Amino acid sequence: MEKRNKRRMILFPLPLQGCINPMLQLAKILFSRGFSITIIHTRFNAPKSSDHPLFTFLQIPDGLSETQKQSRDVLLQLTLLNNNCENPLRECLTNLIKGSETEEGGEISCLIDDSGWVFTQSVADSFNLPRFVLCAYKFTFFLGHLLVPQLRREGFLPFPDSEAEDSVPAFQPLRKKDLARIMGKKDQVEPLDAYLVKILETTKPASGLIVMSCEELDRDSLSESHKVFAFPIYPIGPPHIHVVPASSSSLFEPDQSCTPWLDKQETRSVMYVSLGSIVTITESQFLEIACGLRQTNLSFLWVVRPGSVQGRDWIESLPSGFMEGLNGKGKIVKWAPQLDVLAHRATGGFLTHNGWNSTLESICEGVPMISLPFVWDQLLNARFVSDVWRIGIHLEGRIERREIESAVIRLMVEPEGKQIRERVNALRDEVRRSVQRGGSSSRYLDDLVDRITSF
Ligand code: UDX
Repeated sequence: MEKRNKRRMILFPLPLQGCINPMLQLAKILFSRGFSITIIHTRFNAPKSSDHPLFTFLQIPDGLSETQKQSRDVLLQLTLLNNNCENPLRECLTNLIKGSETEEGGEISCLIDDSGWVFTQSVADSFNLPRFVLCAYKFTFFLGHLLVPQLRREGFLPFPDSEAEDSVPAFQPLRKKDLARIMGKKDQVEPLDAYLVKILETTKPASGLIVMSCEELDRDSLSESHKVFAFPIYPIGPPHIHVVPASSSSLFEPDQSCTPWLDKQETRSVMYVSLGSIVTITESQFLEIACGLRQTNLSFLWVVRPGSVQGRDWIESLPSGFMEGLNGKGKIVKWAPQLDVLAHRATGGFLTHNGWNSTLESICEGVPMISLPFVWDQLLNARFVSDVWRIGIHLEGRIERREIESAVIRLMVEPEGKQIRERVNALRDEVRRSVQRGGSSSRYLDDLVDRITSF
């Protein structure tokens, strides 16, 4: 076992699956560089400590009621968590720092937390701890979303229907219709803008920003970053490919029958379908996806999270005989071991909501995508996939069986799909090279480790 360098890092993820995964992968990377790791986490969506026996886990109370935990309003949850967690975090850090002075716990080097925590900079300052902010989005989105309040003030909305497909110069390559969705519903405008202003204010004084992306994917926005931030930025690349095998940080139990099922399928024959950990769909959208997939007559592996079909427990609204009628060509699970599924030779395409983790994971395995973004950064990631990198097909929000059938056939069967696959394979190679010795992500990671060690 490598010698620990006696320095301890405190990591504090935002309690959402899409934020826990990159933070725990980062923890694994830093551990492999000799740091000891303490993860402070809320009781809500607590990561499974047994999956990471080499880290210390400390839970703090978050004050969320059962109803608030079940809420589909993520902005509300984040606001409450930010209001409730400041004192518990202070208390936890006070105890940790006291302990580190007396025990072999290792001197605490810094705090790393998510950009969505807006009280942590002042907490870190009060302990004289350097704070690094983790950006779990594509960096283009991180820079762009901070402009939303300003764009709103400048009268971006409303715009005539005829301009819906126009691009937004301040937030390329988004189209106006995409940005309108990012700007939120009427009742969310005030809290959203206040939150974004706070994120900018509390990120600027940090010691640096760790970005889960790389120069190969984010060159333009990274070169613009100095206009907003004076601190160093570390685009260290997709975290899960630095230290292999990547470990699971799933909040749900992955269905391990996926791999033996995939083993029985032809190479690149299966469409993998998953909309991440937050998106919910209506029953009629669910049925359109089901019928679209069935009509392709191709194999599919579909993740339907319990509760993700609004008003239903799981998949009980499928027409009777639906699964039997597929003759073994379809499999529906509640949660999949996604990294294994994407890496499997049988997986030929990914119908995705384009959360940033899913998008990165798909690129890293050279799996072309069909984009069905719903909210937030997903709309931007999907534009990069279809319009910039040209490694997928955009459904443009049309959740209709014929559209789904046609997109799947185009991607999996037609010559267009072959070209898309060639492009995603080329991008996969570039991104994977970036984390190898001498690659851009690997150099940024070395810089980050040197910087932390210098404190
Ligand atoms: C959220 C936001 O929705 C997203 O827009 C943002 O970019 C990150 O935070 P989420 O919707 O969960 O994330 O999507 P995504 O970023 O793709 O993260 C999902 C993670 O869960 C991925 O790491 C994926 O591998 C994992 N996953 C998903 C599984 O392990 N199994 C599954 O069945 C589905």
